[in-house]
Amino acid sequence: MSAPTQHLTPEDLLSAAAGLLASESDPLASMANLSALIFEALPELNWAGFYLYRPYATAPATLFTLAGDAVSGAQPSVAPVSEQGISPAQGELVLGPFQGRIACTRIAMGKGVCGTAAQTRTTQCVADVHSFPGHIACDAASASELVIPLVAHGHLLGVLDLDSPRKNRFSVTEQHLLEQLVALFLAALFHRPEHSPAL
Ligand code: SME
Repeated sequence: MSAPTQHLTPEDLLSAAAGLLASESDPLASMANLSALIFEALPELNWAGFYLYRPYATAPATLFTLAGDAVSGAQPSVAPVSEQGISPAQGELVLGPFQGRIACTRIAMGKGVCGTAAQTRTTQCVADVHSFPGHIACDAASASELVIPLVAHGHLLGVLDLDSPRKNRFSVTEQHLLEQLVALFLAALFHRPEHSPAL
C-alpha cells in the first residue's frame, strides 16, 4: 500500500488502520505501520508502540505461532497459559515496533504499567505516571500513559503502549478508540487465510 499523504486526525484513526490492515498480512509490518499511524494521528504523544509477550514456557504461544495456526485454519495449537499450569507471572514483554525515543527492551510481567496491563489483561489508563507504583521511566518526559493488552483466543500476545508528556492526556473516549484499533488488528491477524508470517 502507498503511504497516506494527508494529515491524519483522531477521527481518521480507525478507517486508516482498517486500510493498513486490509493491505498487509504480516503482523510485524502491521504493528510498525500502526505505531506510525497512532503517533501521527494523535497529538501530544512522545511514544507509541508494541511490546510482545514472550512466555518462555515449554510450549510458547507467541503472536507468530498463533498467526501460523490462523494460516492453516487450525484452532490455536497451544493451550492458554491458564490451562498449561503455567503461572501467568512467567515470561516477559520484549520491545516491538514503535515510534519515539529509544525504550527499555524487556519488561517483566507485573512490572510497570505495561507489565501490569499484561499480567492483569486489563487496560491501564494512568493519568500521572509518577503516581503509579513501579512505573518504568523509559523517557523522563512521559507524564501519562495508556496501555492496552493484546489478547486473542485466551492468549496474551503483547501490549500496545502510548506515552504522553502531558498529565491526564488520555480520555475514556480515546481509550475506547485505541481498544477498537487493537480489536481490528487482532481480527485481521486471525482472519486472513492467505496470511504467511515471515518470523
Ligand atoms: N512506562 C512503561 C515502560 C515502557 S515505555 O513507556 C516505552 C511502563 O511503566 O511499563
